[in-house]
This record gives sequence, C-alpha cells and structure tokens, in this order.
Amino acid sequence: MTKIFMNGCCGRMGRAIYEITKNGSDCTIVAGGDISDNTDGLDFPVFKDPSACDVDYDVIIDFSNAKAVPAIVRTAVAKKKPIVICTTAIDDETLALIDDASSVVPVFKSANMSYGMNVVFELVAQATKALYPGFDIEVVEAHHNRKLDAPSGTAMTIADTIRDNISEEMELVYDRHDRSQKRSKNEIGMSAIRGGNIVGEHEVYFISDEEIVKISHSAMTRAVFGSGALTAASFLKDKKPGYYSMKDIVAGAFNK
Ligand SMILES: NC(=O)c1ccc[n+]([C@@H]2O[C@H](COP(=O)([O-])OP(=O)(O)OC[C@H]3O[C@@H](n4cnc5c(N)ncnc54)[C@H](O)[C@@H]3O)[C@@H](O)[C@H]2O)c1
Repeated sequence: MTKIFMNGCCGRMGRAIYEITKNGSDCTIVAGGDISDNTDGLDFPVFKDPSACDVDYDVIIDFSNAKAVPAIVRTAVAKKKPIVICTTAIDDETLALIDDASSVVPVFKSANMSYGMNVVFELVAQATKALYPGFDIEVVEAHHNRKLDAPSGTAMTIADTIRDNISEEMELVYDRHDRSQKRSKNEIGMSAIRGGNIVGEHEVYFISDEEIVKISHSAMTRAVFGSGALTAASFLKDKKPGYYSMKDIVAGAFNK
C-alpha cells in the first residue's frame, strides 16, 4: 500500500483522488495539504503548511495551485519524499526549482496525467513527422468555465511535441483576433474555449487542401487524471532521484 500526502486535497482533483482510493486502490491518502477550511468528508488530517505534517507517508501528489508548488517541492526535498506534480501553469522559476529537486528526490511531472492523452502525444509526434509541411497544424482545446489558465498545459505540451518534431522554428499563434494576415506555413494555431463543466477536450488538426487528419482526446471524468496520478505515485515510490513523466509509463506500450 502506497501512503499518499495529497496536496490540494480539498479541491476537485484532490477529492476525485480521495474517492478512487476509497473504492479499492493500492494507494491510501494518510494526510493532505490545503489552505481551504472545507475539509468536509475527508477522513485524514489536513495541514495548511505541508512541512508541518507529522504523519508518515511515501509519496506526495500535488494538484493545487501554481503558487503552492514551491512550498510543496521544498517539503519533498526536506523530507526526502518522491513527488508527483500535476498542477499546471507553473512559472519558469518554479520549474527550475523542480529541476533542482529532481537531483535529490524522484520527481514525476506531466501536464496531463491521463494514459490515453499521453498515447495521443506520441501519435501527434508521429503524425507531425508524416504530415508536416504538407498540412497546416491547429490545436483546439475546451475546458470548464472555472479553469484559470489558457491555453491548457496539455495544449502547450501538444505544441511542444509538434515543435520537437519539426526542424524549423514554429510560431505559436494564440487565437487570431489581433492579426489580419494570411496564415503562414510555420505557425501552430492555438485556440481555447471555456464553458460549463467540460473536463478536457483536445483536438489536433492536420489540414491540407484535400483532407483533414484529426487526432482528438476527450476526458470524460476527472477520475482519469486521478487514476494516472495514483499510477504515477506507485511507479515513483521506489525510484532513484530523477525526472520522470507519463512518457516513462507509456513508452513500453509502443514497444510491444
Ligand atoms: N496534470 C493533470 O492531468 C491535471 C488534471 C486536472 C487538473 N490539473 C491541474 O491541477 C490543479 C488543481 O486542479 P483542481 O481542478 O483540483 O483545482 P481546484 O481549484 O478545484 O483545487 C485546488 C485546491 O488547491 C488548494 N490550494 C490553493 N492554494 C493552495 C496553497 N497555497 N497550498 C495548498 N493548497 C492550495 C485550493 O484551496 C483548492 O482546494 C490545477 O493547476 C489544474 O490545472 C492538472
């Protein structure tokens, strides 16, 4: 059984993960961190300051807020605990802190913890190699109306995946309201829509004059990210210090 410290335990993802662990899992949440007082229904102690936690645990999972990430990373390093970082919109300074932490403890970070989405990243890489420059590439994402960042961290990972597979410089063009000019070959269009309770939709269009290849992924419940985070926690528990991601989990699937 992997004992989890759940940072952001009072939020939507924290609670989704709690539900999964309650319904049969090889992970259990033994303590949590959150600045919220809304701890209703949680049967573990919740700490406003994660470094004050006096309950023993194996792995930290973080689904909180970008501002909360430095403190939880410092706690992971001070307590020598593996950490799974799922929070998005992390700034460069904090990314550098995470990088440094990975030389001391195992760090797992992915903008999207869904197994299927990570298979999609690989498919996008293959499609980009096969279709660019003959096809224009556009990324469209949709999320619920409470999401703070746009485009999503996942859409940015898709863009990075496309860029990694094209030798020339590609410009990201966010929506198109501020330009009135023809689309150039070396751009990736990035569009975001927000509304209702959409968990997460990502579509990558490869468009030529004659055909459209569309790779898409729909997350139907938040549980898909929670299950991925718990898989990552079990994966990370006995690993050496280093930087890991869902790529390490998905890689094997392409080499069967
Ligand atoms: N990587 C993925 O697959 C994935 C999937 C879903 C969400 N996310 C990201 O995870 C994060 C959380 O998502 P959510 O939908 O659960 O959000 P949420 O707003 O429902 O929950 C966030 C929780 O973090 C708490 N929090 C805020 N500041 C804090 C601090 N300083 N210390 C401790 N806790 C703090 C809030 O009180 C809240 O309970 C977001 O960044 C979101 O984009 C990532």
